[in-house]
Amino acid sequence: MGPQINWKSLEEHAWAARERAYAPYSKFAVGAAVLADSGEIFTGCNVENVSFGLTICAERVAVSTAVQEGCRQFTGIAVVADTEVPVIPCGACRQFLAEFNPALAVSCVGRGGVHHTWSLSVLLPSPFDRIVNAS
Ligand code: THU
Repeated sequence: MGPQINWKSLEEHAWAARERAYAPYSKFAVGAAVLADSGEIFTGCNVENVSFGLTICAERVAVSTAVQEGCRQFTGIAVVADTEVPVIPCGACRQFLAEFNPALAVSCVGRGGVHHTWSLSVLLPSPFDRIVNAS
C-alpha cells in the first residue's frame, strides 16, 4: 500500500509537529502529518482544553490545516506518539479523515519507529455518509 508515499519524510514532519503539542492535561503529545496529492505535507499536534471535551486530536488539526490551505485530496497520514505500541486514530478522527479519503493510508508510529500501516477503510469500514444513508 502506498509505495509512492515517502513515509520517512511524513513521519519526520509528524515528530516535529508533536513537539508543538499542547497537552497539559493528559501529558500525551501526538503529532500528525498528512500528504496531499500535490505533494505538500501539512502537520498537526493535539490541542487540549481545560474542558477536556473540546480537545482536538493531531489528525484533525493536520487535515484542517491542509483544507484551509486549499488541499482536500490526501493519500496518506502519519501519526506519531512516544509509545511502545503505536496509537491509532480515535473514532472521531477516523470519520473526519474519511470525509476526504475513505481509503487513506494511515501509518501509526511509536517509539523507535515501530509502525503499523492500514487503509482507513479497514479502521472504519462503514463511515457515515449522508448520501448513502439518505432515504
Ligand atoms: N490524541 C491524538 O491527538 N490523536 C490520537 O490518535 C489519539 C489521541 C490526543 C488527544 C488527547 O490530547 C491526548 O491524545 C490523550 O488522549
